[in-house]
Amino acid sequence: MKKIAICNQKGGVAKTTSAVNIATYLSLKGKHTLIIDLDPQANTTSGLGVDKADIEHSIYDVLHEHIRLDQAIIKTQLERLFIVPSTINLTGAEVELVNVMGREYRLRKAVSEMEREFDYLIVDCPPSLGLLTINGLTMVDSLIIPIQCEYYALEGLGQLMNTVRLIQENLNSKLRIEGVLMTMADFRTNLTKEVINEVKRHFGDKVYETIIPRTVKLTEAPGFGKPIALYDGQSLGATKYEQLTCEILNIPLKNKNEETEKAELVASKEVNGGIEEDYGKKIG
Ligand SMILES: Nc1ncnc2c1ncn2[C@@H]1O[C@H](COP(=O)(O)OP(=O)(O)O)[C@@H](O)[C@H]1O
Ligand SMILES: [Mg+2]
Repeated sequence: MKKIAICNQKGGVAKTTSAVNIATYLSLKGKHTLIIDLDPQANTTSGLGVDKADIEHSIYDVLHEHIRLDQAIIKTQLERLFIVPSTINLTGAEVELVNVMGREYRLRKAVSEMEREFDYLIVDCPPSLGLLTINGLTMVDSLIIPIQCEYYALEGLGQLMNTVRLIQENLNSKLRIEGVLMTMADFRTNLTKEVINEVKRHFGDKVYETIIPRTVKLTEAPGFGKPIALYDGQSLGATKYEQLTCEILNIPLKNKNEETEKAELVASKEVNGGIEEDYGKKIG
């Protein structure tokens, strides 16, 4: 099982959006995939359409060793995608686990029993560098860092890289950066281009070729409890997350040109009429 955390201690950089949609496309590409929601805000849980009322056990119970990981796994709308949900009581876990022996290894221990059950494990991290994120990074093979194309995009990344280094030195020597993902790009602005160039200067070829544009459909989908592939699989946001997943898997996007063209055609009719078509052409 390949284990990847989606991590950046900044909020609102598209961690959850990326976790949900990468995991979805991995499953649609035939990979048996598990997603763990490690954020007390539980946006991955609701974004995949899991009803709070249906959650019997969550990642909170797993971290407290009340139950095994497999007992907290529930189905999603996608055949090969499963989720370990989060609930708001996870907020307390950081404090509750402080005096526990091996507190950084709780998730790694729980996941080790499921090594053979899945091809991929995606972890959506909370917007902090606390014990929950440390549990995530101690367990995974690699992390994807989403960065929003905005002012101060690189702010805080020094802190994140420092945490990664500390974890490599003390808790998980195999941890590496899978890739850096530029999100919410608006190619009408110079700012987006400047930020991308700056991030590329720092991270070089770790930056994914696929850049996720800002699109209305990607904002809307979680409100319907659906990943973009199910909400509007022809939209530009869908095409881009599929393209990204192919890049992660190192496989070619099937019928790339045809699909991109189709997505652009549909995107051009989307709410902000015409603008999204440009995005696709420039970055496609
Ligand atoms: N490419 C995108 N285009 C438009 N809106 C987006 C995009 N990516 C994320 N969003 C929206 O931005 C907000 C923050 O994204 P989210 O994935 O929740 O970030 P994080 O998990 O890092 O806090 C959400 O409302 C989400 O729907
Ligand atoms: Mg989130």
